[in-house]
Amino acid sequence: MKNIYLNIYKPNSINLKKAKQNIENNNVIGIPTETVYGLAGNAYSYQAIKKIYVLKKRPKKNPLIIHYDNIKKLKKDAFINPGFLKLYKKFCPGPLTFILKKRKDSKICSLANGNLNTLAVRFPSHSTTKKILKKLNFPLAMPSANKSSALSPISALDVIDEFGKSINFIIDGGKSKIGLESTVINLVENIKITRPGAISKKELVKVLGKKISTVKKINKIYSPGMLKKHYSPGIPVTLNCKTASNKDAFIVFGKKYKKGKNIFNLSYKGDLKEAAKNLYKTMRKIKNLNFKKIKVVKIPNRNIGIAINDRLLKASNK
Ligand code: TXA
Ligand code: MG
Repeated sequence: MKNIYLNIYKPNSINLKKAKQNIENNNVIGIPTETVYGLAGNAYSYQAIKKIYVLKKRPKKNPLIIHYDNIKKLKKDAFINPGFLKLYKKFCPGPLTFILKKRKDSKICSLANGNLNTLAVRFPSHSTTKKILKKLNFPLAMPSANKSSALSPISALDVIDEFGKSINFIIDGGKSKIGLESTVINLVENIKITRPGAISKKELVKVLGKKISTVKKINKIYSPGMLKKHYSPGIPVTLNCKTASNKDAFIVFGKKYKKGKNIFNLSYKGDLKEAAKNLYKTMRKIKNLNFKKIKVVKIPNRNIGIAINDRLLKASNK
């Protein structure tokens, strides 16, 4: 019998070396991060970046996040500023992406940042990702390892669920701890949050000591990647429901809901962090169980609940 898991590798030293070789040969591979799994390629290589866009069927105007393991490497590609340093000290490595001004002499392939004069950069905290980055003398462009507009993967098996055999090397680093993509903060000119995540606006304001606005509407200039429909399980999703028929998958939150074959509780104990971790996993499960519709209860809009609601809203867009 054919082993469908042949392309999943444990993060031991031999396999991390293979990961490095794959990346140096311009292959793109699946690797874990604390937020979601990423599709990693050499950010300086046109060939690797092109592969990422083709595999994901991603619109060319939607730029990628560039991942680093230290500031020294970042300084070759982007200009840092005092706000960046404050946030970096407090939250990095971790689930925070910064939009900074790109250096003209940066070697980042311009396809990776959609030909913009800005760069999205992140320092992931997952130990496996850090080890891989440390071995390389270039940064990694790494979008979430899913097809454009589909659900993000939070495990190595999810990457296979998205790409099948077309990704032939995936490092299994366990389930992503956070389960939702990083918060994106734009530090060029007016400070803005363009994607909510585990690190909340409140925490960012506290550290920056400045007001921050949140970009709700799709805005060409600030975040070309804020596609209206995103994070989609491929079936209709309806929000703020109180009930659902037995035929529909019903995503609930908290202990007041009964158990049932069609009922999927994001967190029985009403913990928003747990709910965030379970969101994509639950939607992927529902999709694979062939439900035709998803109904979701109202999720509290505080802390990481804001990021959960952002993803649910985009999943519900037609
Ligand atoms: O948690 C994460 O950030 C994951 C893991 C793998 O690191 N990555 C991720 O990448 O979510 P992706 O490609 O799925 O999302 C990148 C987001 C998009 O919304 C994109 O538009 C935005 O970052 N972005 C990238 N470069 C940008 C730029 N120069 N200006 C504004 N937004 C940018
Ligand atoms: Mg994504």
